[in-house]
Amino acid sequence: MAKTFHRRHFNQAIAASSLIGSTLGGTRLLAEENQNAESDQSNRRTAIGANVAATVHPIASNAAWKTYRDGGNAVDAAIAAALCLGVVDGHNSGLGGGCLMLIRTQGGAIHAIDGRETAPAAASEKMYLRNGKPVAELSQTGSLACAVPSQIAALKLAHDKLGTLQWASLFEPAIEAAENGYAIGIATHTAISSERENLSNYEASKAVLLKPDGSVPKIGEVLRQPDLAKTLKNIAKYGPGWFYAGDFAKAAIEYLDQYSGILTLQDFGNYKAIERTAVRTHYRGNQVIGFPAPSSGGIHIAQMLNMLETFDVANIYTNSKAEFFHLLAECMKRAFADRAHWLGDSDFVDVPKFLVDPLYAARLARQIRLDKASSNIAHGIEEANADKKHTTHLATADAKGNWVALTSTVNTTWGCKVMIPGTGVMLNNQMDDFSISPGVPNAFGLVGSANNAIAANKRPLSSMSPSIVLSEDGTPRLSCGAAGGPKIINATLQNIVRCIDLNQPIDTAIASARVHQQWRPDIVYHEPNLGGLRQPLNENGNGRNEVTEQLSKLGHPLKVSSSLAIAQGIQMISRGLLAATDPRTDGKAIAS
Ligand code: GLY
Repeated sequence: MAKTFHRRHFNQAIAASSLIGSTLGGTRLLAEENQNAESDQSNRRTAIGANVAATVHPIASNAAWKTYRDGGNAVDAAIAAALCLGVVDGHNSGLGGGCLMLIRTQGGAIHAIDGRETAPAAASEKMYLRNGKPVAELSQTGSLACAVPSQIAALKLAHDKLGTLQWASLFEPAIEAAENGYAIGIATHTAISSERENLSNYEASKAVLLKPDGSVPKIGEVLRQPDLAKTLKNIAKYGPGWFYAGDFAKAAIEYLDQYSGILTLQDFGNYKAIERTAVRTHYRGNQVIGFPAPSSGGIHIAQMLNMLETFDVANIYTNSKAEFFHLLAECMKRAFADRAHWLGDSDFVDVPKFLVDPLYAARLARQIRLDKASSNIAHGIEEANADKKHTTHLATADAKGNWVALTSTVNTTWGCKVMIPGTGVMLNNQMDDFSISPGVPNAFGLVGSANNAIAANKRPLSSMSPSIVLSEDGTPRLSCGAAGGPKIINATLQNIVRCIDLNQPIDTAIASARVHQQWRPDIVYHEPNLGGLRQPLNENGNGRNEVTEQLSKLGHPLKVSSSLAIAQGIQMISRGLLAATDPRTDGKAIAS
């Protein structure tokens, strides 16, 4: 009954908004505001309640809210929100991409669902070499950049195991947003502008995302995606089989073949989401649960926490914020040196267990000097453009104790820029997360070793780091995750450290200025106003404050970055669950 009432109002809101604009035209459509009228009345950045969610887009957060209203759990809410994000935030994630999903169930079980794309069977180490030289552009744009899309297989696996509402009902908000449109915000506008030229090379990408004269739609104009709505309806009705073995796979292969693609129907048909064993580490009386390979996030967050546990982090922060950030940067440098050397798909290479051994971390930590930045860091052995935003992270948790941390991506903005005509699906460029040649950096400046080399049916290394922190008795305390390539790992680390060591609420932790160090290049990226101190501007717009001045004196090359990752999180507090979205973007937290 409640569901019928609710849907009628939602439809009315959308119908009213549809009168105002047409596809990519007309005046500002207030779809978002209309949908907000149907959602909770929380302020946008944080929400406290029994059932909560935080995503980067209000329409997706409202989808989670509606799912709770319909009696769904946190898994249902995460699926509905993820599907919506593929419509209203499609430059970051969607049906053409993949995701990693970490779930803590009400019974205390942990599920790590690997929905990472896989390389086509015809992929090879030499596929991006031309005249013997690597051509990075080929792994980033166009038909060869795409690995088998995997998000929908992961969402279905999660739903089959833990969902409570009907699969098809979870698609309703996404279908409505695709069919009736949404008002383009600054994120979509910027993403289209930055890739306008590449998008205009592919007929459907151009037709859907650009105006007929090839210009970029303005903020506030309406983007309708009827083909994507049809695709969503088909997957809602027929399940992932329609995508992997039916009409979608056929249309995708036929189109990619025109551009010398190597994906085949067998590649699509063979795709499987895999349930993996999560990485568990202990940190100051808590269990930190992270995502294992092919993600590098869980392993390196565990490794860095193990290093940090040998320091009195809270005391260091109180005495000197510069020393705090210096310590973080030194841990990051060592972890990323190991990432570049050791990490790859664990189904293909041995990812050494010593990386998460506290004894190994203690050895690395002993090398760290608090009065000097280290140089010449190499990967360890068992011994014994950084401003761009990609990907999306969402968090849900419910009154029963189900928690979901879900990071989803098409890789860089609009993936490989190829939309399959008639489907609205934009394909990923996840092949670029492999090491396309030794020492050649990918779009994130990351280098890798043979462990992350391309191979048929292998999954590329990821930095996605959905994480859940439990107290030692298993009670969920915190969930964290972020978007932003390798910056995800370090942003998630900082949010965990701020909540646990500095006792900050998750919204404060997320809002605080961050640092990022990824070994190569040997630079500490930092956001403005690091340490909460005003950063005066010099003629380059990059003045120093007291903290950055001290970091520079310690020997760190510095570079200011307007935004280092976009994080969402949930924390258990005395009044209930606190959901927080990142003030660096225009997201929304909801509670019911
Ligand atoms: N595509 C970004 C990542 O998975 O790290």
